[in-house]
Amino acid sequence: MSDPETTGRPSSSVAPKADFPILGTELNGKPLVYLDSAATAQKPSVVLEAMDAYYRETNANVHRGVYGLAAEATARYEYGRTAVARLLSTSAEGVVFTKNASEAINLVAWAWGVRNLKAGDEIVLTEMEHHSNIVPWQLVANITGATVRFAPITDEGELDLDAMRGMLSGKTKMVACVHISNVLGTINPVAEVAKMAHEVGALCLVDGAQSVPQMPIRFDDLGCDFLAFTGHKLGGPTGIGVLVGKPDVLNGMEPFLGGGHMIKDVTTEGSTYAASPGRFEAGTPPIAEAVGLGAAVDYVMGVGMERIRAHEVELAGALLDGVGSIPGVTIHGPKDPAKRAALVSFVLPDVHPHDMAQLLDQDGVCVRAGHHCTKPLMARLGVNATTRASAWLYNGVADVEPLVAGIGRARRYLAG
Ligand code: ALA
Repeated sequence: MSDPETTGRPSSSVAPKADFPILGTELNGKPLVYLDSAATAQKPSVVLEAMDAYYRETNANVHRGVYGLAAEATARYEYGRTAVARLLSTSAEGVVFTKNASEAINLVAWAWGVRNLKAGDEIVLTEMEHHSNIVPWQLVANITGATVRFAPITDEGELDLDAMRGMLSGKTKMVACVHISNVLGTINPVAEVAKMAHEVGALCLVDGAQSVPQMPIRFDDLGCDFLAFTGHKLGGPTGIGVLVGKPDVLNGMEPFLGGGHMIKDVTTEGSTYAASPGRFEAGTPPIAEAVGLGAAVDYVMGVGMERIRAHEVELAGALLDGVGSIPGVTIHGPKDPAKRAALVSFVLPDVHPHDMAQLLDQDGVCVRAGHHCTKPLMARLGVNATTRASAWLYNGVADVEPLVAGIGRARRYLAG
């Protein structure tokens, strides 16, 4: 699709840039080149309009009022849930709304972990986890006496599956693994990981924050017990995340937060709890955010998840070729575009990633620099920080040109 009127450049994106109001703006007098979708995605107009219409036309609390307006608000909120269920080919019963992916993982760590882990038990993670899939387990391990272990990665930035298999035993109670690394772009074989976890009687949680927006996923095919992701990386608003779980596993767990709506009965003697998903949705939920998420899901499904994935492979190839052409650059993660997401983390000798990102900003190019909330992975790679460019459905191969030109200029300026 081409939209030179909006950007001043041809684009081969699979979604028109004109669908995303912010992408028609300028940054520092240059057309905005947004390459930080792994941090948060831009929002299509349909999402903004759905949220605006919700507040203007049907604002009321959900699952409480018996009047028509409240019923309409509830219907729009629940539409968001069924949209997510459709996206992941799963049942709405297992779709729990949270604040973000971090809260979805914390829900499992606290609601399941605190009650089921004990000294001697092991939680197995990987060296490429985001802090969101490390710190909750460390907190719960500190309380329960369980141990957190890290499966290694290879020098190519792939999960060492044999080493992970060797770490699993009857002591393993949880295997929690990122689907797509937010630094390496590596796509992990999570169905295999889930199978290995189940063979030793452990549960498996997959962090899908980067994968759900990028590729077709059927929850049942992953085979995991839990899948966590967030709305804002899918073109939806901030403030809403999702925990997808197997309903029988969710209903076997105690609630995470107590409050309104999550109960079956409350007496002065005690409480009983609703079934999933209400069991885990205490208090007034993020209603407009669920409406926005529903619109975002419809938008990406309209583009087509298979098509988005094929486009991501093309963009990954363009990013690897373009950034890889800079003299002295080191790119972390797999070299094969088919094995990774459209995100490239790189370092240049004598150039601090923060300086690089600031100079790219002068060119209108938005990238992230830093440790990307993956300090153990940074230690494994032997770096303090990287610069990361990440693309999504509204980016075209044409967006790689200003990135590469900007990196070249910054390199000449910073590295002398
Ligand atoms: N986890 C997000 C990122 O990698 C915020 O940028």
